[in-house]
Amino acid sequence: MSFKIKNNVFWVGKTDWELRKFHGNEYSTHRGSTYNSYLIKEEKTVLIDTVWMPFAKEFVKNLSKEINLDKIDYVIANHAEIDHSGALPELMEHIPNTPIYCTANGVKSLKGHYHKDWNFQVVKTGDTLDLGNEKQLVFVEMKMLHWPDSMACYMTKDNILFSNDAFGQHYATEYMYNDLVDQNELFAECIKYYANILTPFSTFVDKKIKEVLSLNLPIDIIATSHGVIWRDNPTQIVEKYLAWANAYQENQITILYDTMWDGTKRMAEAISKGIVETDKAVNVKLYNIANSDKNDIITEIFKSKTILVGSPTIGGGIISSTAEILEMIKGLRFKNKKAATFGCYGWSGESIKIIKEHLENNGFSIINDGIRALWNPDQESIEKCVEFGKEIANS
Ligand code: FEO
Repeated sequence: MSFKIKNNVFWVGKTDWELRKFHGNEYSTHRGSTYNSYLIKEEKTVLIDTVWMPFAKEFVKNLSKEINLDKIDYVIANHAEIDHSGALPELMEHIPNTPIYCTANGVKSLKGHYHKDWNFQVVKTGDTLDLGNEKQLVFVEMKMLHWPDSMACYMTKDNILFSNDAFGQHYATEYMYNDLVDQNELFAECIKYYANILTPFSTFVDKKIKEVLSLNLPIDIIATSHGVIWRDNPTQIVEKYLAWANAYQENQITILYDTMWDGTKRMAEAISKGIVETDKAVNVKLYNIANSDKNDIITEIFKSKTILVGSPTIGGGIISSTAEILEMIKGLRFKNKKAATFGCYGWSGESIKIIKEHLENNGFSIINDGIRALWNPDQESIEKCVEFGKEIANS
C-alpha cells in the first residue's frame, strides 16, 4: 500500500496494528505503531528509510509494485535502528550498488547490524542532494535524537521535514494525518514517546530544535518515521518538544508503590488523603507498580513535580517491581523533580533509605527522610501518613 502525501512524495511504509511491545519488551505499544518509509519520485528517485525487519519481504514486494527497484537513485538511512533499516538487507539484494546516504555514525551502526559493505555516502549537516525539478534534500544531523547516527532531511520547495524518530509516536492509524486522528490518543502517545525515549537527551533536543528553527525554513509537513504525518500546524509538536525538553512538569504528584499484605498500600492511600486535604488543585495519582504498565508510569513521572515511591522492606532490600522502576528512572535522568519515600517493615526496615539514596543519586531533590510503619500500620501510623502527605503538599 502507498499513498501520496504531497506532489511526488509517497508513503510506502507499514502499519503494524499488532505491535504491543517495542525495543524487545522495554516499551509498551498499546496502540500499535507504524514504520514510515517515503518514496520521492522527482527527476531522481529517492527512498527515505525502510521498515522493521519482519516486514522486509512484504515491504520490498510492495515497493517493487510502486517502482522498478533499479530506478531508485538514492537510499537515505536517517537512522540505523532496526525498525527503520530492517528491510535494507532484503532491498540491497536487489540493488546492491545503489548509494546509501547516512551520517558517519550511521555507517558504523549499519555495518554493526548487517556486516555489509554497501555503497555508503557519508553526509553531514548542510550537505545537499539534488532531486531535479529544482528541488533538493538538505541533511541535518540529529545526534542523540535519539542515537548518535540519527539524522533528518528537509525537502526544499515541497517544504517537508523527514524527521525520523523525532516528533513521532507509536500509534497505528489508517488516517495517517495528525488532524484526522483522536487528539487525546495522539498526544498521549507523543508524550509517552518523549518521556520514555527522549528524556535523557533533552539538552540535545532543545539545542537542535533551536538550531533548526533559526534557519527559518518553511515547514508544511513533518513526516516522521512512526505514527502520524504532521500537516495541520506541524510545528505544534515542535513547540511541545521545546516544553518537554525544559524540565517539564505539571501540577501532579504521583505515588508509586508495591505492597505484600496491603500495609504499604494503606500508607499510600493515607499519604494521598493528606495531600488532597491540603491542596485541592494538585492532581494526585496512585499506581501499584506491579499491576501497572511501566512505560505508562514513566510517563506519569515525567508529568509530575513530585513522586513518592513506596516499598515494604524484603530481605533487607526493596520489592522487585520497585527496583525495576528505579532502574528505569536511573536511565532517564529526570530534572526538576522532588521525591520522598515510604514503606512498611517487620524488623530491619531499610527500604525507605535504599529508595531515597537511589532517587537522590539520580537527580531528584529529596524532601525528607521518608516515613515507615512497623508491621501493618495501626491508626496512629495511618494518621502519621496523612500528616506526611500534608507535609509533601506544603513542600
Ligand atoms: Fe524508531 Fe530509534 O527507532
